[in-house]
Amino acid sequence: MSNKARIAVLVSGGGTNLQALIDAQQSGILHSGEIKLVISNNPSAFALERAAKAGIDTLVVSKKALGSQDKFEQAIMDALNENGIDIIVLAGFMSILSERFTSAYPKRIINVHPSLIPSFCGKGFYGLRVHEAALEYGVKVTGATVHFVNEVPDGGEIILQKAVKILKNDTPETLQKRVMRLAEWKILPAAVEQVSAAMKGE
Ligand code: GAR
Repeated sequence: MSNKARIAVLVSGGGTNLQALIDAQQSGILHSGEIKLVISNNPSAFALERAAKAGIDTLVVSKKALGSQDKFEQAIMDALNENGIDIIVLAGFMSILSERFTSAYPKRIINVHPSLIPSFCGKGFYGLRVHEAALEYGVKVTGATVHFVNEVPDGGEIILQKAVKILKNDTPETLQKRVMRLAEWKILPAAVEQVSAAMKGE
């Protein structure tokens, strides 16, 4: 029997962070855990195609179709239970999870956020908006953070961070791409490996 942590990745969009995890699994950087399931709240997320191409099971859970936050979260929890999931990775998952959900998995949910927390984070700060805010403020350094998820949006314990310099002619789009390439795609797989290894060593 495999002794790897069983990982579910929750996505909403393009899924480049999911791809970084798949690539890390294939190269052996991620070896203490294995991605068993990809769940999307968006049926047209390209991340679903990335998962299918890698032979990973996928599931779409629509809040709209289910009618409430409670039913939406219950459907996700049922899928996590059915698949014996140990670690939940939020990789560009653009839906806030309630305390009922987060408290059911203490130190088991990992999120990647595209800034150096505690800057430019919390409610309303997601995707491109984070980079717009960093440029508007005029900071010279930004980056990415991987952290555990608790009931406070972007407020859980930090696992890894990586800084990225802001360049003179950066736009939100160029900055987003560079933060992904230089920070997110590196620290997310590293953090997931770290947490998987720690869990299996318990
Ligand atoms: C990533 O930059 C991720 O850090 C961010 O959304 C993007 C998703 O890209 N997440 C948040 O802003 C969460 N607060 P991806 O779908 O290509 O991985």
